[in-house]
Amino acid sequence: GWKMEDVLNEEIKAIKGMVGAEDHVICALSGGVDSTVAATLVHKAIGDRLHCVFVDNGLLRYKERERVMETCDQDLHLPVTCVDATEQFLSKLKGVVDPEMKRKIIGKEFISIFDAFAQDLDNKLGKRPAYLVQGTLYPDVIESCPPPGSGRTHSHTIKSHHNVGGLPKDMKLKLIEPLKLLFKDEVRELGRILEVPVAFLKRHPFPGPGLAVRVLGDVTEGNALEILRQVDEIFIQSIKDAGIYDSIWQAFAVFLPVRSVGVQGDQRTHSHVVALRAVTSQDGMTADWYNFEHKFLDDVARKICNSVRGVNRVVQDITSKPPSTIEWE
Ligand code: XMP
Repeated sequence: GWKMEDVLNEEIKAIKGMVGAEDHVICALSGGVDSTVAATLVHKAIGDRLHCVFVDNGLLRYKERERVMETCDQDLHLPVTCVDATEQFLSKLKGVVDPEMKRKIIGKEFISIFDAFAQDLDNKLGKRPAYLVQGTLYPDVIESCPPPGSGRTHSHTIKSHHNVGGLPKDMKLKLIEPLKLLFKDEVRELGRILEVPVAFLKRHPFPGPGLAVRVLGDVTEGNALEILRQVDEIFIQSIKDAGIYDSIWQAFAVFLPVRSVGVQGDQRTHSHVVALRAVTSQDGMTADWYNFEHKFLDDVARKICNSVRGVNRVVQDITSKPPSTIEWE
């Protein structure tokens, strides 16, 4: 096997050798494991000539922006600029219900914000950033044929179709992809060596388009996003309290654009339905639905209806992948 300390030292040496002493590097930090570990590694190599940007697209989970910024600031000492682009994203998404359209709009807005960030740096430094850090993993670049000389011999058929090629190609940035020969578990090990908090390294994956794939229909309708954030937080917190977070690949809530009748107190209500989804998986390509204990489900559903205004019904998704996907969209 590879020794991760050696991999780390080799990578740092390679980055120092590649990036010129006057060169600046930019990185779009998603708050996920991969981009965070990649940024931390590059920061170790070139210090504050690395400039990270974290974009709040208004589609993030409960307190996500605060949590990511705090980890970067207090634990990792990473230089991160936080851009609140909520209005920009949500105004473009208003009235859009088609999932592919949502993804396209989100991708396009992201690029425009990233471009503006690079331009600002250019103005400030009097020099255009020359490199872009990406947290691309081995499974992202490879379907079945490992590159020659990579030291990899197994054929792995995982492919994360979502993460590759998300950033502008016409920016003429050279790529730094320090994780591109690694699998997820190796990235976590590297993260541990780089002293990224373990709880952070164990976070469930979260899709780039964020809650837009978890609010079915128009994300700007009513307070769908706010309701979803609250429900999701209760669900995740309950899972953590039950000590089962690490046994689950992904767990989240989905906001359905329907209402159903309920009775709360003496009142007849006509409120929203939310679905809970939790799956186990090795790589996201196939998945099994997670079988919670009845008591857990009972407690969670009760807690959600009691504390989230506008929700009177909770259902659970009991399909695996295939035939379903993990996200609902
Ligand atoms: P599906 O829903 O296709 O998802 O079964 C498989 C895995 O990919 C994640 N996912 C995404 N990740 N950008 C991402 O970075 C996306 O657009 C995206 N769509 C789905 C999903 O959460 C699951 O882990």
